[in-house]
Amino acid sequence: MCGIVGMIGQVNTKEILLKGLEKLEYRGYDSAGLAFVNDGVQVFKEVGRIAALREHVPAEADGFAGIGHTRWATHGVPSVPNAHPHQSTSGRFTLVHNGVIENDEQLKAELGVDLLSDTDTEVVVQLIEKNFKATGDVTEAFRKTLKALHGSYAFALLDSENPDVIYVAKNKSPLLVGIGDGTFNVVASDAMAMLQVTDQFVELHDGEMIILTRDNVTIQDLEGNILERAPYTAEIDASDIEKGTYSHYMLKEMDEQPAVIRNIIQKYQNEAGEITLDQSVRDLVLGRDRVYIIGCGTSYNAGLVGKQLIEQIAGIPTEVHIASEFGYNMPLLTEKPLFLFLSQSGETADSRAVLVEAKKLGHRALTVTNVQGSTLSREADATLLLHAGPEIAVASTKAYTAQIAVLSILAFDLAKAKGKELPFDLMKELALISSAMDTVMSQKDRFQEIADEYLKESRNAFFIGRGQDAYVGIEGALKLKEISYIQAEGYPGGELKHGPIALIEDNTPVIALVTQPHVHLNNRGNVKEVVARGANACVIASEGLDLPTDAFVIPMVETLLSPLLSVLPLQLIAYYAALGRGCDVDKPRNLAKSVTVE
Ligand code: M6R
Repeated sequence: MCGIVGMIGQVNTKEILLKGLEKLEYRGYDSAGLAFVNDGVQVFKEVGRIAALREHVPAEADGFAGIGHTRWATHGVPSVPNAHPHQSTSGRFTLVHNGVIENDEQLKAELGVDLLSDTDTEVVVQLIEKNFKATGDVTEAFRKTLKALHGSYAFALLDSENPDVIYVAKNKSPLLVGIGDGTFNVVASDAMAMLQVTDQFVELHDGEMIILTRDNVTIQDLEGNILERAPYTAEIDASDIEKGTYSHYMLKEMDEQPAVIRNIIQKYQNEAGEITLDQSVRDLVLGRDRVYIIGCGTSYNAGLVGKQLIEQIAGIPTEVHIASEFGYNMPLLTEKPLFLFLSQSGETADSRAVLVEAKKLGHRALTVTNVQGSTLSREADATLLLHAGPEIAVASTKAYTAQIAVLSILAFDLAKAKGKELPFDLMKELALISSAMDTVMSQKDRFQEIADEYLKESRNAFFIGRGQDAYVGIEGALKLKEISYIQAEGYPGGELKHGPIALIEDNTPVIALVTQPHVHLNNRGNVKEVVARGANACVIASEGLDLPTDAFVIPMVETLLSPLLSVLPLQLIAYYAALGRGCDVDKPRNLAKSVTVE
């Protein structure tokens, strides 16, 4: 996690870096810092959000070159000494870092200098100084240092003796260089941070470094060979990353879901209204004997729904695995596996570790992601894009529904290619669902009432359902716990009596989904069981399966696709429960949007 920015060659560097850091706050927000170089270096650091840093930096502070950082703590508590930038003992070198250096303890022992922080980053900047003393050449010292590191990093380095250069390097952590108008260049963890000044970016690959000046970008490998790479245009509209009139990104992103589904329909259909997937994707999957879906958090939860779609519609056996466990608990793979990576950001380190391993074993990989050009997209054999627009709130909402929609399109396309009978008209169903989503979103006030009625005073909550509802419940519980800090668990309704029902007492909130016609009576039975033990049951049912006592009724849609709709009430309940508790909805404690450490 963490976000880094850098700029060289333009006055008002400070404001551009601060704005860039604000755009990167989703990556971590426990402390932040800036450094400028003109005649010497100035460093400013603060615990807390970028807003705190902004207040702390004097109006006159600025520089010809500058770097900045927003932190998600890995080595040492959030504090000023641990905040970046870090400096070498002489003060000549100043460094910001995103990633984790795995051999920092060993390097620290070899350095034998006193450190001011608990961070791995300070070890690196001290090593750069040591190597500089030995070589007398900054580029060589930087390169030599990079070669000694094990782990992940995106670095931006200032040299107080030479304000005309920022040294940049990357391994496993994301980093882009933004091309200016000839008078400046920038660097950032994510294009969003620098859309304010450019939409032209150059990708940096693992094991590469860049010598960045105001009018030049020199890419090198760690042997000093010069590499050529053309810039690309970032296809993000700067307005997509603004909150507009919304109070929170999460609210905006939930509201965007109907439009996202319509956009996905448009992107994946031809003029005749038929699904059209790139032939390379179809070729990649057909002939594979099992799909292994890999994801984390909400993406994993979308995979649970996706498994049902791929198995029941395309008839391909599918397993879903939590990325961080896959390395140790690798299942027995079939002869022709296909690895399908689900990731909003396309940068999640746990998922990437599985991709690297799968490629080493010679397996094929398809990535389904929201971010074109992301690491998981670049390193897989093919990519399906979510076309959901930037998702900035830490709690994932529109990416979940987009993932399910894209997986349904993949399942239908494969079924068609295999000559299987299609169970319904997918594009028509998706269109109906997007309208049904509008209907649910237009009744937001009701979810504020539900959150007040069921969750205001609770310490815990349960979500139950059967069939696809069970998986949506797991996602509903994740949403609630991550933004409102209410302990929440999602279970298949039938599992309650095998243990969790022991936790039900007077007024325990149990949110039950009843959208699956083939199992609705069984889940109603589970609702009765918890009510008999004092639970405060909040039932969300589909039209036709509803009862007068239900808290909310959603339109009936295709059983297999119901998660696209039934998750909306759960997202909204989580949102209003968090608001009611005064929580920071978009930036929940301890979390970051893009989890780039394993
Ligand atoms: O970018 P990814 O989809 O790979 O991220 C995976 C998880 O970190 C993410 O879904 C996380 O669980 C969200 N905070 C959930 O809302």
